Amino acid sequence: MTAQSPNLEYLPSDLNKELLPQHVAVIMDGNGRWAKRRGLPRIMGHKRGVDILKDLLRCCKDWGIKALTAYAFSTENWGRPQEEVEFLMTLFQRVLRQELREMLQENVRIGFVGNLQALPNALQAEISRSMEETKDNRGIDFNVATNYGGREEILQACREISKKVEQGLIKSHEIDEAIFEHHLYTNRNSDPDLIIRTSGEMRLSNFLLWQVAYSEIYFTDTLWPDFDRSEFKKALSAYQERDRRFGKV
Ligand code: FPP
Repeated sequence: MTAQSPNLEYLPSDLNKELLPQHVAVIMDGNGRWAKRRGLPRIMGHKRGVDILKDLLRCCKDWGIKALTAYAFSTENWGRPQEEVEFLMTLFQRVLRQELREMLQENVRIGFVGNLQALPNALQAEISRSMEETKDNRGIDFNVATNYGGREEILQACREISKKVEQGLIKSHEIDEAIFEHHLYTNRNSDPDLIIRTSGEMRLSNFLLWQVAYSEIYFTDTLWPDFDRSEFKKALSAYQERDRRFGKV
C-alpha cells in the first residue's frame, strides 16, 4: 500500500459514521497528465493509479463503506494507442493475479461490470477465477468496470428483457425498474450514493447512466494518482454537507 497516508487509518472524527455513503464509485481520471508532468510515460500514471485504487479500497473497508466501483476501462478506451490498451489489459490481469490472496484475506468480494466477452481470453480467465474465489466474501464489494459503457449496458438489458418477452417469460406490462435493474451488469449492488471524478473534468463519460439518477457527484481538480486518503476525506466531507432529498421536499 505505497500510497497510504499514515494517519488516516480510522474514520476521521469529523466524519459522521451514520452519514457515510454505502456505495462509492470513482472515475479515475488524470493518470496520463500526472505522468506527463513528471516527464514519465503515461503508463507510469496508470501504475501509480493502481496503488491509489488499492489504498482507496482498503480505506473504504477501514471506514465502513460497503461497496466501491471503479471505472477502469470504458467501451471508448479501445480507441487509445494500441500499446496503451495492451498495457492496461496486462496490468489488470497482473494486478488481479497478484492481489487475489490479499483480497481473500481482506474479505473483499470482487465483481466485474461491462461486456467482458470482448476482453483477452487470459484476462477473462483471471476475472472468472477472482470472482469465483471471492464470491462468499462480505467485507466489501469491489467492482471493476471493464469494457463498460452505460449505453451499452442499457441496450444489452433491453435485449435480454425483449428475449424473455418473446419467450413468454415476462409480459411487457410487467417490466418495471426492479426487473430492468436485475438485467444491468451492476445488479448485485444498490446504486452509488457518491460518484467521484478526478482531474477537473466535469462529466460522467458514459459511466453508470441508469444508476446515477440520485447519486451525489463530486468533482475535484486533483489527478487520480494524487487522490489519497486525505483527498477522499474531503470528498466525504462534501458529501456529508449535501441535502439528499430524492425528489422530495
Ligand atoms: C484515466 O486516466 C485512466 C484510465 C483509463 C485507466 C485507469 C486504470 C487504472 C488506474 C488501473 C486499475 C486497475 C485495476 C486492476 C482495477 P487518463 O489516462 O485518461 O489520464 P489523462 O486524462 O490525464 O490522459
